[in-house]
Amino acid sequence: MSDTPSALIASPDNAIVWYDDTLFLLDQRRLPAEERYLQLHHAAEVAQAITDMVVRGAPAIGVTAAYGVVLAARDAYARAGGAWKQAIDEDLKRLGASRPTAVNLSWALQRMRERIETLGDGDPEAALLEQARGIHQRDRVENQCLGDLGAALIEGPTEVITHCNAGALATGGYGTALGVIRSAWEQGRVTRVHADETRPWLQGARLTAWELRREGIPVSLQSDAAAAARMARGGIGWVIVGADRIAANGDVANKIGTYALAVLARYHGVGFMVAAPTSTIDPDTASGDLIPIEQRAGDEILNCAGHRVGAEGAEAWNPVFDVTPAGLIDVLVTEKGIVEHPNRERIAALLS
Ligand code: MRU
Repeated sequence: MSDTPSALIASPDNAIVWYDDTLFLLDQRRLPAEERYLQLHHAAEVAQAITDMVVRGAPAIGVTAAYGVVLAARDAYARAGGAWKQAIDEDLKRLGASRPTAVNLSWALQRMRERIETLGDGDPEAALLEQARGIHQRDRVENQCLGDLGAALIEGPTEVITHCNAGALATGGYGTALGVIRSAWEQGRVTRVHADETRPWLQGARLTAWELRREGIPVSLQSDAAAAARMARGGIGWVIVGADRIAANGDVANKIGTYALAVLARYHGVGFMVAAPTSTIDPDTASGDLIPIEQRAGDEILNCAGHRVGAEGAEAWNPVFDVTPAGLIDVLVTEKGIVEHPNRERIAALLS
């Protein structure tokens, strides 16, 4: 008999777990070959885990950072007692700097800071844990809601393309783009998913395919470059993707390759849907060109699955997100409702 607590049985909806006063993260770098949790006790470890892609996906990064604040508060109180609010600051900055593009990170940290403001000198752990759990639960509920809203737009049965992993693993649970697909599959509107493998981290091949197969949803992997040929053959109703940050004018930063898919979708007359909670909308960033785009090490391109594939001496450019102009987006689906052809006015109306 296994002695693994049920809270730690690996599943996409169970990738971020607070258990036994500790944060457990399902190590997404090892999936699907290995289903292993890492145990984290300090905020610095949480920040490093986000940077190293143990956990990834915009909402999941935010939820994880919120739990990181709980660990930071525990340490700060142990070190400084009643002066914990000053002592926590360095950890908050460290968490905030762990990855630059996903705005859910600063959104979640801001919610935690607001709760910190309301607390006195006493032990803050219980109150901050409650706040982090609230952020986690809110994301799950919002994803289910936007999943149903997005599914209703799909006049199926049809096949769809997705990119990267915007599933339960990338969120507090259920998923954004994959949330739409899960709901649409249950309703018979989607019959098959074509998942871009998503170089260089292969989130599509490793994570999206793992999630969809566990749901019994047919999934076919394709190299990122195959999407045009797939659309040209017909039978694709929608491209459905998530987002890391949506600017005030509706421009969307998401995994590198998303912009190319949007151009292809427009050319082939395929609908382009972005599914994201409103916590991914950044009203303080006016347009996509102002979104900070993370550049990662060239080694991620020069190597594949740990093996060198690039010729010795070659250099590599590795921006891990790109920006899709709002004009290429047919519909933005959020938990607050859908926005057709998003622009500044429509996004402001959604948030008001
Ligand atoms: O580099 P990653 O894996 O963190 O990139 C993730 C994505 O680009 C996702 O599509 C996005 O965060 C939406 S997740 C619901």
